[in-house]
Amino acid sequence: MSGIRPTGFLHLGNYFGAMRNYVKLQEEYTCYFMVADLHALTTHPDTKELKENVHRVLAENIACGIDPEKAALYCQSHVRETSELYLYLNMLAYLGELEKTTTFKDKARLQPDNINAGLLTYPVLQAADIILHRATWVPVGKDQEQHLEMARNFVKRFNHRYGEVFPEPLAYNFGEDLVKVPSLDGTGKMSKSENQLATLYLADADDVIRKKVMKAKTDGGPTSPNMPKPDYIENIFQLMRLVSAADVVSSFEGSYDNCSIRYGDMKKQLAEDMVAFIAPIRERAESIRNDSIYLEDIMQLGAEKARKSAVATMDLVRNAMGLVY
Ligand code: TRP
Repeated sequence: MSGIRPTGFLHLGNYFGAMRNYVKLQEEYTCYFMVADLHALTTHPDTKELKENVHRVLAENIACGIDPEKAALYCQSHVRETSELYLYLNMLAYLGELEKTTTFKDKARLQPDNINAGLLTYPVLQAADIILHRATWVPVGKDQEQHLEMARNFVKRFNHRYGEVFPEPLAYNFGEDLVKVPSLDGTGKMSKSENQLATLYLADADDVIRKKVMKAKTDGGPTSPNMPKPDYIENIFQLMRLVSAADVVSSFEGSYDNCSIRYGDMKKQLAEDMVAFIAPIRERAESIRNDSIYLEDIMQLGAEKARKSAVATMDLVRNAMGLVY
């Protein structure tokens, strides 16, 4: 089970860090992939663009290869059982631990005029998302590990008080397959909202991709054979390894090592390979987004699958809690 907030555009980091691996998982596991529209309300109370954003995230997920027939691809607010479980879990979550959460402290600092209770109980809602399907594996990045640990604590408390209903969810680690996608300016990773000029989005037009790649930081080139690469150059090679053919990469490796490399040529090649990689995803996503009947259908299908699992869990929950009169 995993979720993604419909705030900001999906980028190459999301693709290689998450979606590409989800596409493999859906072949082997029963998967629930969710668009966390309720979580978005904790930071984005204005809902004017929410529908468009939910549609875009769904379309981009499908364009990347998530198959709504195989996985349950759904929208959080379509599964009302989430809110009920969230309420019960709130009685098992302590103010102290919620206030200590890193993401809460970060967001509270970012929006001092809107430190709402939903922001505080964000990890409780996330735990509800996960255990609603009695999920065992949660493929997420490092930044979500604290939330998962909290989910395990809520599960332990629930099971201890009311009887064993939930397995403890663990972070699913992709190991070798977990690729970090560096940003184009040599500082950190690609990001959904920060650093937009150094991030390649799946919705970027061809000329935008070219412009961003050509702006990537380089220098005068290596000054002696087989020099170690500075970070920002290694980043360009890393991006190239993701989207370019192996012989193209090794030819630039060779010309780096013998000091004949021309970074302008390398970036031109990378730009074209990026365009060839991103354009088909962008175009598929666009055509899905424009097909509102198809989108409605897949949202309904996903909600049905998710609800089925949610209803079964909530029966167990109400029974365990003694909420049956
Ligand atoms: N908090 C996650 C994020 O910001 C999104 C999310 C919501 C999630 N519910 C989830 C992730 C359940 C995994 C499982 O990225």
